[in-house]
Amino acid sequence: MDSKTLFTGVFGFPVGHSMSPLMHNTAFAALELNYTYGAFEVEKGALKKAVEGIRALGFRGVNVTIPHKVEVMDYLDEIDEEARQIGAVNTIVNENGTLIGYNTDGQGYVRSLTEEWNTPLKGKKVVILGAGGAARGVAVSLAKSGVAEIIVANRSFDKAHELATHLSQWVGSRGVALEHLDQTKPLDADLLINTTSVGMSPHVAHIPISPAVLHDQLMVSDLIYNPLYTELLTQAQQAGARVHNGLGMFIHQGALAFERWTGQAAPVSLMKEAVLQFLQKS
Ligand code: ATR
Repeated sequence: MDSKTLFTGVFGFPVGHSMSPLMHNTAFAALELNYTYGAFEVEKGALKKAVEGIRALGFRGVNVTIPHKVEVMDYLDEIDEEARQIGAVNTIVNENGTLIGYNTDGQGYVRSLTEEWNTPLKGKKVVILGAGGAARGVAVSLAKSGVAEIIVANRSFDKAHELATHLSQWVGSRGVALEHLDQTKPLDADLLINTTSVGMSPHVAHIPISPAVLHDQLMVSDLIYNPLYTELLTQAQQAGARVHNGLGMFIHQGALAFERWTGQAAPVSLMKEAVLQFLQKS
């Protein structure tokens, strides 16, 4: 092993429950790479100094999570095109003192979905619930991967409209207020994606949309992975729909960051196994 350890990690607040250190350290060990990954609690006012610390300490790179994904863009030297289109950075790579920002969330989502759905995205009609930061990453990457149409349904109409307008440069898109979406009949779509936090532990009985919209021709995807199967996914399975949970997105966004830092293919199955074991124990 090379004697110089390369440091990576995650900047966020809070980060105490992050599974990224487990996932990345498992991957580094499996490939015998002399890298290590830590969780760094960075408060809101401290982000600029923390980013300067990447250069000062010679870190290879970091992930950036809530609440810093947008603000961090102000402190970087270069921003990759897709991160700019999404409007957020979740991965920084330090190339000899030049800090480059990427966003691996959207691509991580698309990789995970295509791996599990095994159906071409081209021509698919998509309904996205929510219009926040998580929705933006997923929606931009999907919009660029050939889907036919994206409807953004959000509690507040303004944010739905704003995101749909942004997506219109790549795909047919419109925004709708969630309360105006017809929830009394099967949804006219191929893919329904929940990007809101509704249904996340501890509120596991909550569901972001009426089960009346679910049907057996639908793929239902939830970005939540705690619990692994939300009430939405459980109801979708009962309606005969295929389901996709948020674990794959988490693993693949990490794998894409790992590949940027190390230049090596990530051991995706091992990373998934480590996180799954941890989730099932906790
Ligand atoms: P994130 O980065 O996780 O997407 P966010 O940017 O705060 O977080 O966005 C949260 C999204 O979940 C928003 O679309 C929010 O709807 P509003 O724009 O109307 O606030 C949606 N959301 C959160 N709680 C919700 C609830 N109880 N019912 C419906 N939508 C909800």
